[in-house]
Amino acid sequence: MEIIISHQRTDFDGLAAMVAAKKLHPEAVMVFSGKTTNNVKRYMSLYKDRITVKKPSDIDYKQINRIIMVDTRVAARIGPFSDLVEENDVDVLIYDHHLGRNNPIQNAEEIIEPVGATSTMLVDKIYSQGIDMTSFEATLFALGIYEDTGCLIYESTTSEDARAVGYLLDQGANLEIVEEYIEYSLNRKQQELFNKLLDSIHQISIKGYEIDIFQAEMEEYIPDVSLLAHKLNELHDADALFVLAKYNQKLLIVGRSNDDSINVGETLKYFGGGGHNRAASATIKTSDEWELIEWQEKVLQVVKEKINPAILVEDIMSTPVETITPDTTMREADQMMLRHGHSGLVVEKDNEIVGIISRRDIDKVRNYDLLHAPVKGYMRREVVTIEPNASLKEVQEAIVEHDIGRLPVVTAEGELIGIVTRSDLLKLFYGTDDYLKNRQNLYGRSLVQVQEKRYDISDKLELIDEQLLALLKKAGRMADSLDFDLYIVGGFPRDLVLGQVNHDLDLVVEGDGIEFARELSKELGGHLDIYHEFGTAVVSLEDLKLDIATTRVEYYPQVASLPEVEHGSIQQDLFRRDFTINALAIQLNQASFGQLVDYFSGKKDLEKGLIRLLHNFSLYDDPTRIFRGFRFASRYDYNFEENTEDLFKHAIELDVIEKLSSDRLFNKLELGLKDRNPVRFISLLDEYNILSYFSPGIEWNHETEILENNVTKVLDWLHDLEIVTSFEEWVLYLIVLVHGLNETEIKDFANKFNINKNLFDRLMTSLKADKYIRILHDAEDNSAIYYLLQGLAIEDMLFLLIKDFSLEEEIKLYLEKLQWTDIEVSGEEIIALGYSPGPIFREVLDEVRKAKLNGEVETYEEEKEYLEQLLAERESE
Ligand code: CTP
Repeated sequence: MEIIISHQRTDFDGLAAMVAAKKLHPEAVMVFSGKTTNNVKRYMSLYKDRITVKKPSDIDYKQINRIIMVDTRVAARIGPFSDLVEENDVDVLIYDHHLGRNNPIQNAEEIIEPVGATSTMLVDKIYSQGIDMTSFEATLFALGIYEDTGCLIYESTTSEDARAVGYLLDQGANLEIVEEYIEYSLNRKQQELFNKLLDSIHQISIKGYEIDIFQAEMEEYIPDVSLLAHKLNELHDADALFVLAKYNQKLLIVGRSNDDSINVGETLKYFGGGGHNRAASATIKTSDEWELIEWQEKVLQVVKEKINPAILVEDIMSTPVETITPDTTMREADQMMLRHGHSGLVVEKDNEIVGIISRRDIDKVRNYDLLHAPVKGYMRREVVTIEPNASLKEVQEAIVEHDIGRLPVVTAEGELIGIVTRSDLLKLFYGTDDYLKNRQNLYGRSLVQVQEKRYDISDKLELIDEQLLALLKKAGRMADSLDFDLYIVGGFPRDLVLGQVNHDLDLVVEGDGIEFARELSKELGGHLDIYHEFGTAVVSLEDLKLDIATTRVEYYPQVASLPEVEHGSIQQDLFRRDFTINALAIQLNQASFGQLVDYFSGKKDLEKGLIRLLHNFSLYDDPTRIFRGFRFASRYDYNFEENTEDLFKHAIELDVIEKLSSDRLFNKLELGLKDRNPVRFISLLDEYNILSYFSPGIEWNHETEILENNVTKVLDWLHDLEIVTSFEEWVLYLIVLVHGLNETEIKDFANKFNINKNLFDRLMTSLKADKYIRILHDAEDNSAIYYLLQGLAIEDMLFLLIKDFSLEEEIKLYLEKLQWTDIEVSGEEIIALGYSPGPIFREVLDEVRKAKLNGEVETYEEEKEYLEQLLAERESE
């Protein structure tokens, strides 16, 4: 396990560098080595849903084999990890911008650059590796750089820091947020000016809003008046403030607003300045005829005109509110949240709010199998509510102060009319786009970043045969003529990226799939089947089949139930799928033919060999995905991404597999055994404790593993023989898997999974394998081999070989020769010698066959002669 840590009392550069390092080392887990600064604490209380940083107590130290340290290189500053970094079997990688060489950590790999902030170094690496970032991340990285360089003022600042900030602004870094969290220190002159301003405070209330105004004459120009405005803003709790600083014949006005109803950008535009809603400035050339006090009046007059009605809670709240009663079970609440995409529900009794329950609360009890319990036992009872006319500032304060994610909106009369959540606030701060990318969705929490990437893979399309390529192009043109977007999805794009051709052709149409299928089958001929209830169609041509669907959103009303379906975009259609590697699409419309559309970085995961779920409820929606995950992991020799691995374990612990019917369960096993690497598939079933769902007696041990590996060897051996056999290879893996069961267990297994007679016989025969092996070893002649093996099916014989390959000669002899041995003499010859039919016929003919098997007779004459001899011997007895 890899972890990313920074120094104790982590500041913004530390936190930002951790998050940036995580982008470079996505497998690593972020851990705080101790406390954070107050500012970071305040920030984390609002954004902890977006940045997962664990505590040292969440971590099993024994699992750690690599530590990535950022923004420090000193062991003494990393608290509980200080001993670990000195251990030989733990690799240490350091990213830091602090020079100097006191007590370096032995054997650590150090990447040290003389820049103003560690975040700068890491942003540069993210940039040069072509890794994308969200505006949220860009904002945090900018905060890191601004903090450590005093907003690019400190002497330590380098041009790289400024360039990094420039890049971050291009990536959507939000300076209003930076500003909200940054701490500054002042030089002497600034401090003097600051004191002067403080003394000048003038407070006024306009339309109910508190406005503070500060003013001072300066003898010389003092930079960064905006920093002073920021400090004043921290000290005073007004809704907005203005600083007026006059020097020479210039007046500088800086405005700060803490409330969206006061747009200081608009206000200062009047004076020829500009900025944002919450931070702006203007510089005015003045003559001396106006005193500062007059300017002050003018500013206030403009503010008065520009104040807008505030955005109130009632403007952003969600309504109506889903409520439940205290007796609703956790499971029902869970399903309701899933169905409606909420992350919390209000609990009401007799029209009164008695509690609130969140997805987090439910996730906690999931571990203990308590989903049947009523919510009243687990809900939060101290419900903090807010009034519809409260400001957003109040919402934010309540959320931070009480560490809660949602506030029911209640009127003065006590009526519940809405709910406002942390996400609603984030939506306002970061804009709709970013918000949508990270929102709670129908499938639970998204595990992936959403960013559309397109790659031209038309060169890979050359791998498929010309006829199919022509057909796909034709389908693309047909979609163009109907004005639909057409994609091929699922296994085909996944395997094509891997350079393999998959013959499953799953097409999805952004538009009307059925109409498209109708038109396409008119054009191509073939047979058309339409499934109106699923909105899908199949066009069957002579040698191939096209599955056609309309892009859709699915949601699962209950665990393991069939999904309900609504139309959606291609992005939504891909998002409902299981793993990132299966959520790729290739567009077929003419203008974009051969473009790989990748919203969830599936291509990257294919390259890295990672199986990553798209959303955290995926396995509850459809537990068969557990088996699909194992199948892909074994087929491509991939690993599970860490979060995904946890979700697999979690879902399995919660027994979701129990929800599958035994038919489906067996089918999933069969598919795994038929896939490319059945041995790893079974070992994964064992590793995740799933074998017992098939039979409590099944064991995966060293011996079974050897036998499973022998299956391939025996199959190769068989292919080298020149004989024709027909059987299903996966059955051999199954026989090996269950061969340790006793008779009763095999019968139970067969009953539970309703397996067919032939398969049942094979499993039962396997019980006698050791006996057969012994007999074969003792066989004195060919006929003994023949009479033993002739009653067995090919699978049985192969199982004997799997167990004991030293029988190879005997079985080869039987398969190639003995099984075809026939005698030419028959009852006719015996009758011709004057005998009437009776049991003796069988006995003597068998004797002749034995002689032939053992090579004692060969030709018809020899057979006949031997037959006569046998009859004569019987006569004389
Ligand atoms: N899919 C899913 N969840 C499932 C089954 C399928 O999300 N339980 C989606 C995946 O996007 C998958 C696509 O549907 O790629 C097509 O499914 P299918 O043809 O069954 O599987 P493939 O991924 O093509 O796998 P294989 O190569 O084994 O056929």
